[in-house]
Amino acid sequence: MLNLKKLLNSIEINIKNSTNKEELDKVRIKYLGKKGILTSYMKHLKYFSSEEKKKYCFTINQIKQKVIFHINAKNKILDKIILNQRIKKEKIDVSLPGRRIEHGSLHPITHTISCIKHFFLKIGFQSVNSPEIEDEYHNFDALNIPKNHPARDSHDTFWFDSNRLLRTQTSNMQIRIMKKEKPPIRLIFPGKVYRNDHDHTHTPMFHQVEGLIVDKNINFANLKWIIYNFLYDFFKTKISIQFRPSYFPFTTPSAEVDIIDDKGKALEILGCGMVHPIVLKNVNINSNIYSACAFGIGIERIAMLRYGITDIRCFFENDVRFLKQFQYNW
Ligand code: DAH
Repeated sequence: MLNLKKLLNSIEINIKNSTNKEELDKVRIKYLGKKGILTSYMKHLKYFSSEEKKKYCFTINQIKQKVIFHINAKNKILDKIILNQRIKKEKIDVSLPGRRIEHGSLHPITHTISCIKHFFLKIGFQSVNSPEIEDEYHNFDALNIPKNHPARDSHDTFWFDSNRLLRTQTSNMQIRIMKKEKPPIRLIFPGKVYRNDHDHTHTPMFHQVEGLIVDKNINFANLKWIIYNFLYDFFKTKISIQFRPSYFPFTTPSAEVDIIDDKGKALEILGCGMVHPIVLKNVNINSNIYSACAFGIGIERIAMLRYGITDIRCFFENDVRFLKQFQYNW
């Protein structure tokens, strides 16, 4: 028993003298490990009577508990020392900039549409959204483009079945609106249109904005005024514009509008004209009382001119290096 007491004393000294976790662990193994001193003491049991065995075991277990207690306490002290050393060593640089959250921005086409809307809302138009799945009647027939009409060939249409299609032009909305609303009408319809065509100036999906005015005494001069003013507002400078006589089955007279660049080259950006009396008849508007003018602007076309983009496919490839150049917000 005396030996055991001495042993406990020396273990306690050993624990106290451990200056780091490794040393402390060595002490633990030395006394409590499988081949440790305290474990080996249990082997002496066979030399004792059963009464003595009880006492002996009790004392050994008590010592074990004490050793475990001291080791745990020392472990906590060592943990604290390690933490304090780390705190002393590590410095937080409060002047370092934080992690920034990157903000998204508007797609250049969305931005262009909102510029267009801004202008037209300012001069008394309203903007209406419209369906992209259309039927043959609204996309072609009612617009005076009957079956077998050569104008249909220029629209490489995506058909769902013999009647339904992805609209090839926003002009479909002229019919839907004029059937529903009574004049006066001053509306624009921006939206997506679809044609089976793909190269650096064409994508199978692109955007148009259609404009429609129906009222008494609407004439070609009104149409020209609106288009000139819109283009000056959009390009922010006095650009050179040319109205070129053209043909659309749903307007008469019809014109296409070109922008003339620095080298004198004409770039077509929109089609327009006075709504054809046949179209007005199709929607039950009396062309002796009312007249109407309309225009359809290619949104990618004018966006490409404004930003100097030469390949239309850039808009839809979702390359962030391209998109990041347009930091527009609402
Ligand atoms: N819908 C025509 C196209 O996609 C563009 C157009 C021409 C629209 C004349 C009009 C218009 O409203 O009057 O090519």
